Amino acid sequence: MGKIYAIANQKGGVGKTTTAVNLSACVAEAGYEALLVDMDPQANATVGLGLPKDCSPGVYELISGAATLEDVARPSGIDRLAVAPATPDLAGANVELPRLEGSETRLRDALAPVRSQYLFTLLDCPPSLGPLTVNALVAADRLIVPVQTEYFALEGLAGLLDTFRLIRREFNPRLTISGLLLTMSDARTRLAQDVESEVRHHFPELVFETVIPRNVRISEAPSFGRPVIHHDPHSAGAGAYFEFAKELATRG
Ligand SMILES: Nc1ncnc2c1ncn2[C@@H]1O[C@H](COP(=O)(O)OP(=O)(O)OP(=O)(O)O)[C@@H](O)[C@H]1O
Ligand SMILES: [Mg+2]
Repeated sequence: MGKIYAIANQKGGVGKTTTAVNLSACVAEAGYEALLVDMDPQANATVGLGLPKDCSPGVYELISGAATLEDVARPSGIDRLAVAPATPDLAGANVELPRLEGSETRLRDALAPVRSQYLFTLLDCPPSLGPLTVNALVAADRLIVPVQTEYFALEGLAGLLDTFRLIRREFNPRLTISGLLLTMSDARTRLAQDVESEVRHHFPELVFETVIPRNVRISEAPSFGRPVIHHDPHSAGAGAYFEFAKELATRG
C-alpha cells in the first residue's frame, strides 16, 4: 500500500517545491513508483520537472471532478515518476472549493486509486493554509514541513500545527507528522547553527537528522526542468536529498 505525503508550510519560499521535486525523483531513482501532485497554482513543481504550465487536464480538473487521476497523471520524463500538473487556473479552486459540498475531501476522493499504483505520492502545497492545503492534509497520511534555516524559521509554524490538529480531529485522524526538514542551511554560518539548534530544541524528535544545504546546483536545476539528482548527481544538494529520502523511508 502506498503512502501519501503532504509537503506544507504556509510560509513562502522555504523549499516545499524543491523538496517535493527532489524527494520524488530520489524515490523513483530508488526503484519505486512515485507520483507528484502539484497543488500550487504557481505550478513550480510542474515546471521544475520539465512540463509546461498549461497542461490540461490538471489538478484543477481533478478536484472539480471533470477528470480522473488516470486522465491527469502523466509521465515526467523520469522513469517511474508521474506528475499531476498544476495550471494557473487552479487558483480558482480557492474560491470555488468552499462553495462545494464536501469540498475538503475532494482530493482524497480523487486520489483513492493512487495507493495501489504508487508507493509514494507527494503533494506540493501552496504557501497558504487555504482550501488547497486543507485538501492536501485531508488526503495525506503524513506531513513533511520544510523549514528554512533562517531567522524567523519558526514563524507561522504554530498556525500550521493548529491546522494540522484541526484536520486530524475533523477529517483525517490517521494524519501524522513525518518531520520538520531544515532547508537552505549555510552550515558554516553561526546563524544556521543557531537556528538549527533552536528548531531542534523546540521540536525534539520531530526534526529530521538530514539537513539540506544551500546549494547552487539545487537552485539552478529547475531552470533545466529537472531535479538536482539528474542535473548534478554528485553535488552536495543531490547527496542531501538522497540522504533525506533514506531517512524518510526508515521513519515510515
Ligand atoms: N537547498 C537550496 N539551496 C539553494 N537554493 C534553494 C534550496 N532550496 C530551495 N532553493 C531555492 O529557493 C527558492 C524557493 O524554494 P522553493 O520554490 O522550493 O520554495 P517553496 O516553499 O516551494 O516556495 P513557495 O512558497 O513559493 O511555493 C527557489 O528559488 C529554490 O530554487
Ligand atoms: Mg512551492
